[in-house]
Amino acid sequence: MIKIGHHVTIAMDGPAGSGKSTVARRVAEKLGLLYLDSGAMYRAVTVLAIENEVEKDISKLIELVKTCRIEFMDNGKKILLNSEDVSVQIRTPEVNKLVADIAKVPEIRHEIVKHQRKIGEEGSIIAEGRDLTTIVFPDADFKFYLDASVKERAKRRFLELQAHNTDITLETVETEISERDEKDTSREHSPLRAAKDAIRVDTTGKTIDEVVDFIVAQVNSRN
Ligand code: DC
Repeated sequence: MIKIGHHVTIAMDGPAGSGKSTVARRVAEKLGLLYLDSGAMYRAVTVLAIENEVEKDISKLIELVKTCRIEFMDNGKKILLNSEDVSVQIRTPEVNKLVADIAKVPEIRHEIVKHQRKIGEEGSIIAEGRDLTTIVFPDADFKFYLDASVKERAKRRFLELQAHNTDITLETVETEISERDEKDTSREHSPLRAAKDAIRVDTTGKTIDEVVDFIVAQVNSRN
């Protein structure tokens, strides 16, 4: 448990399938931290675009983003968009397809980053995504960069998808992951990259518990 009175910020980045959401959620539970899933916020903005039919009208979408309310409940398990629970909608294939193009718009990122920093002021936090260690919380107390081979990440996603009875093949998942990596790392604004001072964790062949224990030990060793 983090010492009372000591406000701690843990930032974590990594590519799709690196395990960061599951790991961050468990670390939050173990250390009694607020959990911030930053990708869920870009997904909620994508739902906002679809609901208002402004996926192609980015300037209208930017205006909507400026006045929308995005809130988390149950420590990050639920996400509300203008009071509507969109926790299921944010994970649909339609959102999966659109989100990267919406997340690359600088004005949208600007609004979302402001919001994320405000959440960070509320208390000790673990926040994960693509630019948490580099842009959102560059002065975080702890920075981690989680990675794993494309093959391993594709296998994890494939098993998750199979549990939901989708008939996608492992090869297709691998191709999608590679395409997403390319988009996330090559975009002009806030591309995914490891901060120089981030601790790199290769999760290939490691269990979630092993990664969680490593991170908790790192934090406890400096508290
Ligand atoms: O982690 P995720 O799959 O839920 O992220 C959804 C999308 O949002 C993905 O295309 C990357 C983008 N994203 C981002 O640009 N910056 C973040 N901090 C988190 C996610």
